[in-house]
Amino acid sequence: MTQIVDEIKKLKEARRAVILAHNYQRGEVQDIADYVGDSFGLSQKAVEADAEVIVFCGVDFMAESAAILNPGRAVLNPAPEAGCPMARMITAADVRKLKEQHPGAEVVCYVNSSAEVKAESDVCCTSSNAIKVVNSLKGAEAVFVPDMNLAAYAQKFTSKKIIPWHGYCPTHHLITAGDVLVAKMEHPGAQVLVHPECRPEVVDLADGVFSTDGMIKYAREATADLIIGTESGLIHRLKKENPRIRYYPLSTYAVCPNMKMTSLVSVRDSLRDMKTQIRVPENIRIRAKKALDRMLEVGR
Ligand code: 13P
Ligand code: SF4
Repeated sequence: MTQIVDEIKKLKEARRAVILAHNYQRGEVQDIADYVGDSFGLSQKAVEADAEVIVFCGVDFMAESAAILNPGRAVLNPAPEAGCPMARMITAADVRKLKEQHPGAEVVCYVNSSAEVKAESDVCCTSSNAIKVVNSLKGAEAVFVPDMNLAAYAQKFTSKKIIPWHGYCPTHHLITAGDVLVAKMEHPGAQVLVHPECRPEVVDLADGVFSTDGMIKYAREATADLIIGTESGLIHRLKKENPRIRYYPLSTYAVCPNMKMTSLVSVRDSLRDMKTQIRVPENIRIRAKKALDRMLEVGR
């Protein structure tokens, strides 16, 4: 392992590159990254990074967002085959139809979506600022795509009418209300944190609902052990940064296979061969960037 880690470090310096990794990445990939974070934090870092090359370890829409925000820099995706199934549950044509059906509504698009879908939307959001973004809209109605569970969660905190699409994350959908009841019985005293991509009945039983970085932050101050209702990769970072308490996965089935496709070898190869460079057609990129910029302006 140390040999490949050394190779990556040398290549990174030679290329003037920065490595960004999502919280669900394999532990060894998180460990060689310059920054590990949630979708919002990674978008911010992609804009701020002082580097000529960005190596994005995540799923395709994340590297694509970095490329949309950074036209002047090379954005490399070491595992371009890693997609997000939820992002594939809606097309730009579906969004255009929704806009025809709801002409008075603005379109909020979860970043887990294609560049084409972002280009059709007014503003993007992540799990960490969905409520803030919806409440920042001027009108009383918002079409919200593609995640129906995040839409249902945001609906609880706004007087605006949310019109949801029917997409969902297959990984978070595997977590059931029964899992929460069993985990609470097995670990009395531990608190249950879940991601807002979980089903509403799971969210209702949780002690806290957070984005992945939100859970990291919560753990820093936590006095009880934590049952983690999101993709398993987050537990690597939780244990590393805050070993003071114990962490239990809410479901051992909550693994996103796409997030695990990036490896140390693919990161090394991507830096060595400058592949796979992500390019978004300029007419789509400019429109999608407006929606992402507006999201970053709202903040979290
Ligand atoms: P976060 O932005 O909370 O990290 O979530 C991203 C994601 O893909 C959740 O499944
Ligand atoms: Fe997509 Fe779900 Fe994987 Fe996140 S965990 S990348 S939403 S499939």
